[in-house]
Amino acid sequence: MNLEKILGIKYPIIQGGMAHIADGKFAAKVSEAGALGVIGSGNMTGAQLRQEINICKSLTKKPFGVNLMLLNYYVDELAEIIVEERVPVVTTGAGNPSKYIEKWQVAGIKVFPVVPNPTLAVKMERSGADGVIVEGCEAGGHIGEMTSMTIIPQTADRVNIPIIAAGGIASGKQILAAKILGAIGVQIGTLFLSSVECPIHQEYKNLLLKSKYNNVTVIGRINGLPLRLIKNNMAVNYLRLEKQGLDKMELEKYTLGALKAAVESGDLEKGSFMAGLTLSQIEEIRPVEEILENLMEEYQEELGKIYNEIKY
Ligand SMILES: Cc1cc2nc3c(=O)[nH]c(=O)nc-3n(C[C@H](O)[C@H](O)[C@H](O)COP(=O)(O)O)c2cc1C
Repeated sequence: MNLEKILGIKYPIIQGGMAHIADGKFAAKVSEAGALGVIGSGNMTGAQLRQEINICKSLTKKPFGVNLMLLNYYVDELAEIIVEERVPVVTTGAGNPSKYIEKWQVAGIKVFPVVPNPTLAVKMERSGADGVIVEGCEAGGHIGEMTSMTIIPQTADRVNIPIIAAGGIASGKQILAAKILGAIGVQIGTLFLSSVECPIHQEYKNLLLKSKYNNVTVIGRINGLPLRLIKNNMAVNYLRLEKQGLDKMELEKYTLGALKAAVESGDLEKGSFMAGLTLSQIEEIRPVEEILENLMEEYQEELGKIYNEIKY
């Protein structure tokens, strides 16, 4: 199984859908550079999603995807727009997309749900998904409990569909490790935040460069919606409200609003600066093309080392 062939892309890399961030222009840039660019539909309306899809189509003829957040209020409408617009690939987040899978596949759309554990991966295989994106809790944004080191091989033992690894990947070495554990490709989020083309505020990018793994924390562990982000006043405030027992959907709205404040205004106090544990590996802001070329060069180099070890 070869992800490049399945998706019609140059590198076995999917750009993680990122709500409020990965718009049509950014997804097109990533696709043009050889990975699969993915529009993060987050809490968009149908009209907004259609507009971003059309922007993406106008900027690239290469395959691209849409990430559908299943908690979106307009989720049924968005699922339909994906069909109408013949989006080549769908990834889904925050739930079980079974009821949409058949309709998407009849329309020729490839479906890759994001799952936080092998149990949901098995359900997705039974529902007919083309593959699963297994996400370890090293990732930025909403996370599960399992690490990439455990979720990739444990899923590989249970399903026959292709596995894409996400969470904690930002180097060629990590791509190779994911492949050894049973993945045919990877999905990356945090590293793409550090690209020149990523449409986030410069303060967000500065913070990514300044922060290390020990500046990253997880909120939402009590209410069951754990989210990995950079520690700041917003995170402390969230934890306080969470301990007070504020409704989890209210807290979710608070987080999405705070993400907007981070992305659009770079508000260091009130913003939610989602990022994963690969943060410490980010040293500079580089063009998407350079990031991808560098990742694959490093991957080939690491693979070469293993071949040499086997030879001698
Ligand atoms: C800022 C940010 C926003 C994200 N938003 C979404 C989202 O809307 N939907 C989704 O399925 N995943 C979302 N993710 C997860 C990514 O798509 C991807 O799976 C994850 O970032 C991979 O792990 P990494 O951050 O270690 O590279 C988000 C991640 C980040 C960092």
